[in-house]
Amino acid sequence: MHKFSRRHVLASLGIMGGSAVLTGCGRQLSGEQEALGRQAVETGGKTEAAEPAPPAQAAVEQLATASRDWTYRELDPEEAGQLAYDIYPQGSCMYSVFGSVIMQLANKVGEPFRSFPIEMMRYGAVGIGGWGSTCGVVNGCSALIGLFHRGDDERKIREELTADVCLWYENEALPTFQPDNPALDVEIASTATGSVLCHVSSGAWCKAAGCDAFSVERRERCRRLSAEGAMKVVEVLNNKANGRPDFVDINAEVHSCIECHGKDSQRDSLGMMNCMPCHSFDGEHP
Ligand code: HEC
Ligand code: HEC
Repeated sequence: MHKFSRRHVLASLGIMGGSAVLTGCGRQLSGEQEALGRQAVETGGKTEAAEPAPPAQAAVEQLATASRDWTYRELDPEEAGQLAYDIYPQGSCMYSVFGSVIMQLANKVGEPFRSFPIEMMRYGAVGIGGWGSTCGVVNGCSALIGLFHRGDDERKIREELTADVCLWYENEALPTFQPDNPALDVEIASTATGSVLCHVSSGAWCKAAGCDAFSVERRERCRRLSAEGAMKVVEVLNNKANGRPDFVDINAEVHSCIECHGKDSQRDSLGMMNCMPCHSFDGEHP
């Protein structure tokens, strides 16, 4: 008997089913779902009552649907990397990762890629609008995965592909990309930073490289890291398109944390990112 787990205590008392009633959270969620369901019924009713579309309108709609085919086509990772490096000054990390893929698809297949407002991805710079949260490289890769696998029934594949990117980002010594035309022609240190967060990742890199956070070297590091992110996401998307996705698993230590703190046990922690940068225990875990 784990004396710390309320869930287990409740289960042993035979009142597990009451947990939604005991915690306000559970009840609120089901209320929300109910409201959403009702909304769908109301909207459904309105659609049914509308006039049937005239044939010309149907043709226009068909054309519009065809030009909204966002299917991914295989790309060359090296080209994506160099392009991301080149366009980095136009909009920083997230913009360059996302833009390098969309621009290549626009060249290859035209619409709808040509009309995508990639400038919107400028918001991702420095961990979302300068807040140092999710790294724009990770965010750009994930936005692409989200665009190409956006189905309601594709949640699992989205999460698996995103995990491949996040685990790569946390664990690999980066960047190693060598641009054809380096904006800053110096040796850039490579290090595994252990975190998908801009603040933690860039901080760890600065420490390893001995550079300050506002230095030209740090900017060059992020520029090369963006190129590398574009290469990685193209590789991940190509593999998926070829039916050879390469799903990586989270490491054993984080796995053990989640086993106790996640959904199936104490339920006091969300997420799968590496816990250690923020919770490293000296000796005994509390
Ligand atoms: C064998 C189960 C188990 C494992 C594995 C485990 N924990 Fe815990 N953890 C606990 C329990 C039990 C508590 C105390 C819970 C409480 O006080 O509500 C706790 C507490 C915590 C707390 C809160 C500490 C505080 O200040 O009160 C953090 C943070 C935490 N764990 C993180 C981790 C991380 C990170 C890992 C992986 C390295 C991990 N835990 C692995 C069971 C576990
Ligand atoms: C970016 C930093 C960061 C990372 C990474 C992180 N945490 Fe936390 N965690 C926090 C902060 C901040 C709190 C809030 C601390 C507090 O309330 O005192 C917290 C709180 C917790 C708590 C206590 C919750 C409670 O109810 O008191 C647990 C358990 C926990 N984290 C587990 C984890 C686990 C497991 C992971 C990895 C899967 C993880 N954390 C990753 C920053 C982080």
